Amino acid sequence: MAEHKIAWLPGDGIGNDVMDAARMVLDAIGLDAEYVHGDIGWEFWCKEGNPLPERTIQILKSTDCCLFGAITSKPKEEAQRELVPELQNKGLTYFSPIVALRQMFDLFSNMRPCKAYPGNPLNYRDDIDLVVFRENTEDLYAGVEFHPLPQKVMEALSVHPKMKAFAKVPLEDIALSCRILTRNGCRRIVRAAFEYAHKFGKKTVTVVEKPNVIRETSGLMIREARKIASEYPGIELWETNIDAMAMWLIKNPQDYSVLVTTNLFGDIISDLCGQLVGGLGFASSANIGKDYALFEPTHGSAPKYAGQYKVNPMAMLITVKLMLDHLEEHDAAQRLESAIATVIREGNVRTYDMGGKSTTLQVAEEVIRKLG
Ligand code: NAI
Ligand code: MG
Repeated sequence: MAEHKIAWLPGDGIGNDVMDAARMVLDAIGLDAEYVHGDIGWEFWCKEGNPLPERTIQILKSTDCCLFGAITSKPKEEAQRELVPELQNKGLTYFSPIVALRQMFDLFSNMRPCKAYPGNPLNYRDDIDLVVFRENTEDLYAGVEFHPLPQKVMEALSVHPKMKAFAKVPLEDIALSCRILTRNGCRRIVRAAFEYAHKFGKKTVTVVEKPNVIRETSGLMIREARKIASEYPGIELWETNIDAMAMWLIKNPQDYSVLVTTNLFGDIISDLCGQLVGGLGFASSANIGKDYALFEPTHGSAPKYAGQYKVNPMAMLITVKLMLDHLEEHDAAQRLESAIATVIREGNVRTYDMGGKSTTLQVAEEVIRKLG
């Protein structure tokens, strides 16, 4: 039996192109793994009315972790129209399979490394090396929303004095999205950030919130962060407001090493950080829970390039490096990262986004040559 069992979910569009590159590299590294292919994405919505078939969930349940490419999703009307005729008007509704997986497997920690590999012409600066920890299950993205506002909710909210300002607004003219944070949710994401800092010798963790204005939710996050920080004497806790953070990341991104924040702020700030180090062709991510982990590049399925083997596989290959670290295959992870860094530094093989003409698989072959 192979040492690792990995769910293999290419999904749609360029998800397939970059997963082919990933497989070539994993085979060259010689990882002792069994890869179990799973169906996911738009094709299965159209054919079966379910973008995340039960058989795929079973595959995830029987594997150590998952490597995921990308999926296509489309607005409601298009989703209905593209269903096969026999499934139309059956009350089926499209949902995001990746969001469903994050919830189903309680993958609360979304980790996004943003490291500038010297020589990348797309780098903002060459000395950026930071990691964003974004809480993945709570906050405004928990989906507790109302429009129009139900009478009962209005009555309940009216206990708050500040609701007087809205008392005369008709209920159908009020939309409400709830920012829900729990103590446990705050604690576990902050702990993930500190554990990472501890493991990789980072000197600071910056908690990014807005407690001076969003006093209760951001306040809870900051208070819990301070408590957890006290357990890690060698690591300093920096507290920065989200708006100021956007500014500092443009001014001095090299000063930061580990950022930790809630779902919405993390979504925004990690896109900003990703662009500092080369954009979608370089942005990797890991969704980590207590019992399972799913690794994915942050880009989508880029339908216009699907099957053309044109896009940059670096985001996926850096994602593979994260997966190898998670599997405690640190030597292999290190070899892969060095090879990636060499290919970027030498600059002989580059996809279109870096100004080159090489294909997805040529980049993978070049990385393999540098594995040593
Ligand atoms: P996208 O990330 O697929 O592509 C946007 C553009 O970025 C592309 O047209 C291409 O120019 C560039 N790009 C993306 N990946 C690249 C790579 N590896 N190398 C070089 N250039 C790259 O985002 P878009 O166009 O907004 O969405 C396309 C589809 O993907 C939609 O159906 C969307 O819902 C889905 N999507 C899925 C995600 C996921 O699976 N996690 C995340 C984001 C979007
Ligand atoms: Mg995003």
